[in-house]
Amino acid sequence: MVPELASRAHQSNILPVVDLALKTAGIGLKSVDAIAFTLGPGLMGSLHVGINFAKGLAIGTNKPLIGVNHLQAHVAALFIEQPDPVLPMLCLLVSGGHTQILLVKSAVDMEIVGTTLDDAAGEAFDKAAKLLGLPYPGGPHIDKLAAEGNPLKYQFPKAKVPDLNYSFSGIKTSLLYFVKAETEKDPDFVKKELPHICAAFQKSVVDYLLQKFAQAIDVYKPGSIGLAGGVSANRELRNSFRELGNKHQLQVLIPSFEYCTDNAAMIATAGHYLLKEGHTTPVDVIPFVRG
Ligand code: KG4
Ligand code: ZN
Repeated sequence: MVPELASRAHQSNILPVVDLALKTAGIGLKSVDAIAFTLGPGLMGSLHVGINFAKGLAIGTNKPLIGVNHLQAHVAALFIEQPDPVLPMLCLLVSGGHTQILLVKSAVDMEIVGTTLDDAAGEAFDKAAKLLGLPYPGGPHIDKLAAEGNPLKYQFPKAKVPDLNYSFSGIKTSLLYFVKAETEKDPDFVKKELPHICAAFQKSVVDYLLQKFAQAIDVYKPGSIGLAGGVSANRELRNSFRELGNKHQLQVLIPSFEYCTDNAAMIATAGHYLLKEGHTTPVDVIPFVRG
């Protein structure tokens, strides 16, 4: 992603998008309770566009301003379709920038109990896809191709890291060496074997994600489990996550596709719960890039 282009796109789209959202909802600004926006983490240029627009709107309409953490919002997205889950919930947050296991006590109260030590799961998908000549973002392409492949044809080793943490750099490197070695023997290897490579890589990542998550279930004994972030759009992950929950007889929360990747509804939902608990943000707040 090119940050400069992203912030320009935000700048030119923000007003028409807000306007369209109000029209689609059939309401005016008067009926809005508060203005929620992303405080971070994210790209500085894009965050600035949102924060300044939100500040202007909040001051102009005299409504409360609520800064939302992007990752907290991914978790809040789970409460859109299931506002009353059995708590605590153990949440697997898998996006392009983060891979975390969170112990969720409420829509806005959560604790990180495991995290990646290097790449995020989405980043692993994106880097693998790039290596295989697929467009960015690569996760959805790998997902699609994997559906036609045999996941057991190849194997990529899982990294051994302590506690409930993850590491994805090993899987990525082993894919790199594997593709290099096979391409030396047959230059058309990737072209011929693409669905199988995708299926095997995807299985390695999903198995690894769920192996650690199952460990976390044993430690924290939650009442429900939830899947959040862009990678939760992955079909193999969704199916295996549901199976894991069923095996442990836990309530399973998996958002509809439209709430999996970054979206405004998740920021609004986090804002709703924060407002309910009396959290508002002063107008001199500044955004943050890293979580
Ligand atoms: O949550 P998100 O929209 O943005 C971030 O906050 O990062 O996640 C985007 C990530 C990308 O890495 C993308 O490749 C991955 O989610 N992704 C997928 C799928 N759909 C999106 N990864 C695997 N399978 C998918 N179907
Ligand atoms: Zn995200």
